[in-house]
Amino acid sequence: MRSERGYLTSKHNELISASKEYDVIIVGAGIAGMSAALLLDFRLKVAIVSKEPLAECSTYKAQGGMAVAVGPDDKIEEHIADTLRVGQGICREEAVKVLTSEGSEALDFLISLGASFSHNEKGLLLTREAGHSRNRVVHYYDYTGKYIAELLASKVNAATNIDRLESCYLVDIATDQEGCCGCVVVLAGKLVYYRSAVVVVATGGYSGLYARSTNAISSNGDGVAAAYRAGAVIADMEFVQFHPTAFTTKSGRVFLLTEALRGEGAMLLNAAGQRFMSTYHSAGELAPRDEVSRAMLQEAGKQGGKPIGLDARHLGKEYLMDRFRQVYAELAQNNYFMEQDIIPIAPAAHYTIGGIKTDLWGKTNVACLYACGEAAATGVHGANRLASNSLLEGIVFGRRVAASINDNFPAKRINSVQLACSMEDIGNYNGVSALRTKLELAAGVVRQGKGLEAALQWVRDSKKSSVIPPDDMQSYHACNAYQLAELLLEAALLRRESRGCHYRIDFPEKNDQDFQKHILQQWGRETVIQ
Ligand code: SIN
Repeated sequence: MRSERGYLTSKHNELISASKEYDVIIVGAGIAGMSAALLLDFRLKVAIVSKEPLAECSTYKAQGGMAVAVGPDDKIEEHIADTLRVGQGICREEAVKVLTSEGSEALDFLISLGASFSHNEKGLLLTREAGHSRNRVVHYYDYTGKYIAELLASKVNAATNIDRLESCYLVDIATDQEGCCGCVVVLAGKLVYYRSAVVVVATGGYSGLYARSTNAISSNGDGVAAAYRAGAVIADMEFVQFHPTAFTTKSGRVFLLTEALRGEGAMLLNAAGQRFMSTYHSAGELAPRDEVSRAMLQEAGKQGGKPIGLDARHLGKEYLMDRFRQVYAELAQNNYFMEQDIIPIAPAAHYTIGGIKTDLWGKTNVACLYACGEAAATGVHGANRLASNSLLEGIVFGRRVAASINDNFPAKRINSVQLACSMEDIGNYNGVSALRTKLELAAGVVRQGKGLEAALQWVRDSKKSSVIPPDDMQSYHACNAYQLAELLLEAALLRRESRGCHYRIDFPEKNDQDFQKHILQQWGRETVIQ
């Protein structure tokens, strides 16, 4: 998919004259953006733009860990095979090879910065998560993401060539005749244009578009929307991964209960207190997430909507309080104690596979515009992401983006700048809460053509009836949310089959024949259909 360019206005010209300049602007301060920043040539003047505090970013919220084939009897080939199997035949194999074979370098990078993951006297403790054929997940208790994010942030803050521009909201990406040349942000209530020779979009995914998400509401894919408006090709938008075991707190917040709990033996129970997963999948509780989420909805339906429970009681208080300290504390605050209570859970939108299409070095089709991490679509996850491949993806492709920029830094001029944004299209969408509910119902774990069509029509009608509001962050946020929702719904309608985390009851089977054509168009001939 590719967008039409936006418009220039007199407001834009004022912005251009008031601009500041960097060599590289990285939008997003998660694992991908910060890794890339730290590995850029230190002579480059870099800015990391981020809108929310660190604790709101998806990296920070990641619990499970980072999948790397470093166990004594593990092999990269096995990690590849698991990733391809879970990706349901449409992974881009070359990207999977890159991801898995550069895993130990990614781990070494973190260790070189001072990381020390959970270990005993024999070495790293590796945990298991769904879809993996063995224990492979390097972790730091149950808050691996927070641990890594804080470590990277401390290094970024100490780097003299990197500026952190916080509370800074990406509005649009600017282009000139030679490609990308900076971005427009809202900073302290004002639109500001930052020139740069290169922009890296590392803004994360768009799961926050759903009413029920393990991510912050602010994870609404601003970077993907801005790149799209700047002419970047986006791909795989329909693939939204739902995490089966999310808990709703007393205040209504959705909190992840890491899959590592099931990896360490926790079970899923129906209202009668019986395990049921083995009747749906031979891997039981450790089946791929899409299978578990659908099985849970089916089982909940059979019991009149009563919730499914997560049972970790047999693991014992001492172990649970130590190994799963973050989860234990959060549940305890909500009056659930894992050693004695079965915890009510339900799926929630967790990770978005689609995004800005890139090559294996994070390059997009727009010159000087890169993307990495969840914002990018490298083809590495296919139709469903293997658990704990995403922190790995952030570092592996963040490193590659930095390497590519270091090798090819453009000797650049800034020509007449086109702010590719369609600020005039920004409308009063009455916030995004109605949109989030619509998406939850129409494009959730189970989808149907009619529901998708109706939701798409609603999104389009909402856009048409909009009026131009003042320049404020909420309006931009809403604009991006509606734009991405439209793209997601269009993509979900186009994919008239069920595969991985895209499940349509009106097309419940895979359609390999049409798919082959699609995949060859999308990712090129290196992709092998299994
Ligand atoms: C989890 O801890 O269950 C989430 C890990 C992931 O999404 O990869």
